Amino acid sequence: MKTSEIVCLGIESTAHTFSVGIATATVAEKTRGKVLANVIKQFTTKTGGIIPAEAAEHHVEVCDVAIKEALAAAAIKIRDVDIISFSQGPGIGHCLRIGAAAARTLAVVHKKPLVGVNHCISHLEIGKLLTAAKDPVLLYASGANTQVIAFEAGKYRIFGETLDQGVGNMLDAFARHIGLGFPGGPQVMKMAKGGKNYIELPYVVKGMDVSFGGILTNITRKYDNGSYSKEDLCYSLQETTFAMLVEVAERALAHTGKTELLLGGGVACNARLQEMCRIMCEERGAKLFVPERQFLVDNGAMIAWLGILEYLKGTRTPVERSAIKPYWRTDEA
Ligand code: ATP
Ligand code: FE2
Repeated sequence: MKTSEIVCLGIESTAHTFSVGIATATVAEKTRGKVLANVIKQFTTKTGGIIPAEAAEHHVEVCDVAIKEALAAAAIKIRDVDIISFSQGPGIGHCLRIGAAAARTLAVVHKKPLVGVNHCISHLEIGKLLTAAKDPVLLYASGANTQVIAFEAGKYRIFGETLDQGVGNMLDAFARHIGLGFPGGPQVMKMAKGGKNYIELPYVVKGMDVSFGGILTNITRKYDNGSYSKEDLCYSLQETTFAMLVEVAERALAHTGKTELLLGGGVACNARLQEMCRIMCEERGAKLFVPERQFLVDNGAMIAWLGILEYLKGTRTPVERSAIKPYWRTDEA
């Protein structure tokens, strides 16, 4: 096989982040990949909570700059790019539409093939590229998403997932309620360090799925009653919900016989969640892999990298089939 280099520019815009990444692969006997750029622009508000139209407006505003900065960081010109990829779903429609429009425009104007990719799977594949993980179970814990995913018997499968909201959105909602600001996850983590007493909360694991709505209602009431400290509540919230995630991840490892756990998503930046996963992995002789923060949160590099993998498998997304898929499931990709 002849060796060749391909370069992909990937656009991420499923929620509050607009990001442009550039990845390259040396295609030979064994394909090797590398990230050349990863420019992340996040839409934030003081109080948190995304108004889709406002986030979309932010994405329109930063779009050009993000593309230019990514090309500059990679020290290449748009003509050096071979493929344009974008997050086709799942995500917020208003936001997805901006990334898709930008990707279509680049593809048409510069005559490059377009590849739409699944956002959740890109978290798994970037982890495999950047860590030593070969065939991991992914614990993907972000704002909107909470899933345990692995590639098994020829396709990506969801072994467990949230039945209502993502763990990050739940942490954000509680943090907002007790006046910690946005994003709430890091604030809850800080506050939890001062916690001394574990307060019993509902522990909701159903089969391999989890649910956070009832826990949020319960802890909000406890706070409103005024008999518990913020520190103890944050500590107990982390201990309870992270134990649920670890339980489901462990069950997926046991079920698949896999020996590697990979983390992905913004909540995976949490030091306590990482520690709990590490303890579980050590106890069962599995290995834990944690990519660096810029590749845990939503990022364009993972979209660029999955764009290359999909392109090499033959995936093409002509403009007429490039409509966004807000409800695209991991196991349908
Ligand atoms: P997706 O579309 O994948 O759901 P997202 O918009 O939620 O993405 P991410 O950047 O993956 O984006 O995750 C953001 C979430 O991560 C927020 O809910 C935030 O509170 C949470 N988070 C960030 N850092 C921490 C932390 N240290 N501990 C807990 N949660 C955290
Ligand atoms: Fe994500």
